[in-house]
Amino acid sequence: MTKIQGKTALVTGASRGIGRAIALELAHHQIKRLLIVARDPHRLAMVAQEINNIDPQVEVIILPLDLTQPIAVNIAIAKAWRDHGPIELLINCAGVAHQTPFLKSQLSQVREEMSLNFMGMYTITRLMARRMATHKKGTIVNVSSLMGKVAAPTMSTYSATKFAILGFTQALRGELAPYNIKVVALLPTLTDTDMTKSLKNFRGVMPMSAEKVAQALISGLNKGKSEILVGWQSHLAVWCQRLAPWLLDKILLIANPLTETSKT
Ligand SMILES: NC(=O)c1ccc[n+]([C@@H]2O[C@H](COP(=O)([O-])OP(=O)(O)OC[C@H]3O[C@@H](n4cnc5c(N)ncnc54)[C@H](OP(=O)(O)O)[C@@H]3O)[C@@H](O)[C@H]2O)c1
Repeated sequence: MTKIQGKTALVTGASRGIGRAIALELAHHQIKRLLIVARDPHRLAMVAQEINNIDPQVEVIILPLDLTQPIAVNIAIAKAWRDHGPIELLINCAGVAHQTPFLKSQLSQVREEMSLNFMGMYTITRLMARRMATHKKGTIVNVSSLMGKVAAPTMSTYSATKFAILGFTQALRGELAPYNIKVVALLPTLTDTDMTKSLKNFRGVMPMSAEKVAQALISGLNKGKSEILVGWQSHLAVWCQRLAPWLLDKILLIANPLTETSKT
């Protein structure tokens, strides 16, 4: 079980969507100090104001950072830890997704997904985990996706990054346990955010709210879960994959939003 009350947390991707909802939910649970990370300082300032409206006792530190720039991240995390540490909870939520039929996919988009979703997560996790290990205390939450378990057509490269995150998380869970660091994966299903506005919807999949994802995270942390699947559709999909993978493949083909264009 991970206690939230009185802790210091750092949330990446906190300017919008799921990361923002997680930061607000942490404020509802009496977090002491929140460091919020994204590239856009203005949006971060707006989130800081929202946190202040929820609980003026929460100290909010804005860290405008591009997580794909390892040198800048290195400098910023060293300074943040010195000035506001120790940080007990790291939530790696920043991410990007490109939806495209594989035969039309572009190397630049894959690079963007890999350099933020996986390499960006690796960079900040390494910097934070080393410091947590010295303190023998910490929790790291890596935001993967249902697409880290069930890969869907048109999302091959994004799914690849989310599968990678689950492997990374599982390996770290064992490796960092002797340092009293818990490593948790959060697997949201389709969620109504800026990210999904640019995607064509999968047929039959109902988006959920970012607030529900954030609530599921807090509940999962309270229960000491190491993998937090969000929503009944995710549980159903994972069970179907285990029991009848051929059926899931058929369902994914029917749900494929780009069936017509991907044939061309
Ligand atoms: N929405 C879904 O359906 C869904 C489902 C499953 C999993 N997820 C995962 O949940 C996470 C959040 O997704 P979301 O839907 O909330 O996305 P979103 O609304 O597009 O938000 C993405 C966040 O990442 C930040 N970000 C993007 N590039 C960055 C960079 N280079 N450096 C630092 N921060 C960066 C953005 O802020 P700036 O633009 O200000 O940098 C923003 O705060 C992602 O990891 C995503 O894969 C989403």
